[in-house]
Amino acid sequence: MENRIQNLKNQALAQIIDADIEELEGLRTNYLGRRGELNKILREIQDLPAKKRPIIGQIVNDAKKAIERAIDEKHGKLQEGTGKTKWFDPTVPGNKPQIGHLHLVTQAVEEISKTFEKIGFVRVRYPEVEWDWFAFESLNMPKDHPARDEWETFFVGTPPHSKYGQMVLTPHTSSGQIREMTRVKNPPIRMLNIAKTYRRQSDVAHIPMFHQFEGLVVDKEISVVHLKGTLDYFARSFFGPKRKIRLRPFHFQFTEPSFEFDISCDICQGRGCKLCKAGWLELGGAGMVHPQVLKNGGIDPKHYTGFAFGAGLERSFMMKSGLKIDDVRTLYSSDLRFLRQF
Ligand code: PHE
Repeated sequence: MENRIQNLKNQALAQIIDADIEELEGLRTNYLGRRGELNKILREIQDLPAKKRPIIGQIVNDAKKAIERAIDEKHGKLQEGTGKTKWFDPTVPGNKPQIGHLHLVTQAVEEISKTFEKIGFVRVRYPEVEWDWFAFESLNMPKDHPARDEWETFFVGTPPHSKYGQMVLTPHTSSGQIREMTRVKNPPIRMLNIAKTYRRQSDVAHIPMFHQFEGLVVDKEISVVHLKGTLDYFARSFFGPKRKIRLRPFHFQFTEPSFEFDISCDICQGRGCKLCKAGWLELGGAGMVHPQVLKNGGIDPKHYTGFAFGAGLERSFMMKSGLKIDDVRTLYSSDLRFLRQF
C-alpha cells in the first residue's frame, strides 16, 4: 500500500513538471478530485487492520499535500511566463448580454404623460390619419384659408368623405380637440393628446414626423390664468426649477386670445445659438378655445370656456436641463452610440 501511494505521488509529480495550464487542471481532478486516485485509496483504508489505518491515512494526506503544492507552484510559473497559456478563472464576471431599452422619445412621452396626469389630465389617442374636418375645418380653417399654410400638410390621395373632406396625416394634435369634445360630451374635459404629427419640413430644428402633446381643458369659468398656471407647472416639473416660460401674443384661428410660448434655451443659457432665437426656443401655441370651436364640438360656449395648448415633444425633450442636443434629427438617427446614453 505504501509503495502504491509513493508510486502514484512520483508519477503525479513527474506529470506536473511537463504539464501545460489545461493539463494541470486535468491532473488536479485525476489525483485530488473526489473520485481521484488518492481518494480511492482512502476508501480502501477501511479494509485495513485498525492499527494500520492512521499510518496509511497520514501517508495519503502527505502525498495529497505534495501534489497540491506542486500543481500550485507550476500554475504560478505558467502564469508568470510568456502569456501563451490560457487560464480560465471562473471568478471573473461573465460578459453581460446586451439588453435594449425604450427609445428616448418613448421615454419622453411617458414622462410628459406622468407630469400632466399628476394634475388630473387624461391621456387619449385619436387617429393619426384624420379627416380634414378635424384637422382644419372645425378649427375655423375652411378650405383655401391662408392660415392652413402654417401646417405644410401631407394630404392622402383617397376619395374625400362627403361630410369630413379629404384625408390628411395629422399636422397637429389639435385635431383631437373636437374628437375629445364629442367623446366626453359633458365637461369637465382634461385631455392630454400625445401623438405623431406630420409636416413637410426638414432642418436642424424640424423633421417630417415628430410628436406633439396637446392639452385641452373645458369647464365652467376656465380662464387664461389656468392656462398660464398649467404651463408654469409643466416648465418647472419637466425642465427644472430654473427654466422659464414666456407667453407671446399670437394668432390662431381656433383660439382667442392666442399665444405662442417659449422656453429659455439650455444650450446657450440665453445668449443665442444655432438652435434658438436670442435665447428662447419656441415650444408651441396656446390660447382660450374659440367659442365656435366649442360649438363645433357640441359644447355650449355660454356655459363653458376652455384653454388649449400644443407643443413639440422632441423639442421639449431637447430643451431639458442638462441635455445638450443641438440637432433634432439625431433623435431618429438610430445611432447606437447616441441611443445607449439614455
Ligand atoms: N396646433 C397648434 C400648432 O400646431 C398649437 C396650438 C394648440 C395652438 C392648441 C393653440 C391651441 O402650432
